[in-house]
Amino acid sequence: MSIISKDIQKAIQLLTDEQLVAIPTETVYGLAGNIYSEKAIKSIFSTKKRPFFNPLIVHISSIDVLATIVAHIPKKAKLLATTFWPGAMTLVLKKNAKIPDLITAGKDTVAVRVPNHPVTLALLKQLPFPLAAPSANPFGSISPTKPVHVANYFKNDIQMVLDGGACKNGIESTIIGFENEEPVIYRLGALALEDIEAVVGKISIKNKKENSPDAPGMLARHYAPATKTFLVDDVSLEVKNHPKKKIGVLVFKTSLNNKNLTEIILSENNSMQEAASKLYTSLHVLDTLNLDVIIAERFPDSGLGKSINDRLQRATFSL
Ligand code: TXA
Ligand code: MG
Repeated sequence: MSIISKDIQKAIQLLTDEQLVAIPTETVYGLAGNIYSEKAIKSIFSTKKRPFFNPLIVHISSIDVLATIVAHIPKKAKLLATTFWPGAMTLVLKKNAKIPDLITAGKDTVAVRVPNHPVTLALLKQLPFPLAAPSANPFGSISPTKPVHVANYFKNDIQMVLDGGACKNGIESTIIGFENEEPVIYRLGALALEDIEAVVGKISIKNKKENSPDAPGMLARHYAPATKTFLVDDVSLEVKNHPKKKIGVLVFKTSLNNKNLTEIILSENNSMQEAASKLYTSLHVLDTLNLDVIIAERFPDSGLGKSINDRLQRATFSL
């Protein structure tokens, strides 16, 4: 029997019973557990094979819950939260003493967001506790954007994927930390940098830390397909470097018109939003076709293109 189900009551029961449930969000599916259950949190780490130094995001039902999670809310954090929540933005703030160290990997800060998905918002509103949820993929593999991706990863490990359809945004939330009360980008993501800057002004990016990173999702190769994957400006040119190979190409908007290739066009309408929403699904698809190589096209370096390039860089051998 499939573990994919729309039964919210069953999800409530499992979560209350300290079990894990995969939940839909607008970004990617999360592997969720009660933040106050040591058993549930430990099993998130062991199910994902995630190292304990990598902290989890706390998901809350509304901005009103924030004060029970954090010790201090900088002015600009409040402004960002009221502007973008529910939405694809995670804030890293000084943690409240009640938040277990397991969740924050011993840090004195906690990552928190209000996800913008009707099913998960309904779930959170009915639970007396917030949910810790990292992306629902084994450590190092591609984040899931459909229930079936999660079921394929974890069907032997968890009892339920709460079905909320395909994720609208398709890449993870943008993570913002605070240094001396000023916002700093820790991870580029589904909320474009320009949209954030329109609210709080110019913001610095600390996206590239690699050892003991502020946001360990920033480890150099993190979102990796198993097939060798290249990221290039000129895909046709790179194709010539792989004679007699089975090649998959992932392009933004323009077909290469080459019948010898397996091609996925991310957005024929030239929409970065559409491209972002299809990115991981397309990598998943290409990764299951037994190809020798995948060649991905680099995006224009603005708006969501910046975030897409960030994910592609981590998935690939950049040239
Ligand atoms: O869109 C998303 O953010 C999804 C959905 C499920 O909400 N979640 C997600 O979680 O991408 P995860 O665990 O795959 O990535 C969370 C990132 C990690 O890179 C982690 O290091 C960082 O958030 N993080 C968590 N707590 C932090 C903290 N206190 N300081 C800095 N980074 C933190
Ligand atoms: Mg992740």
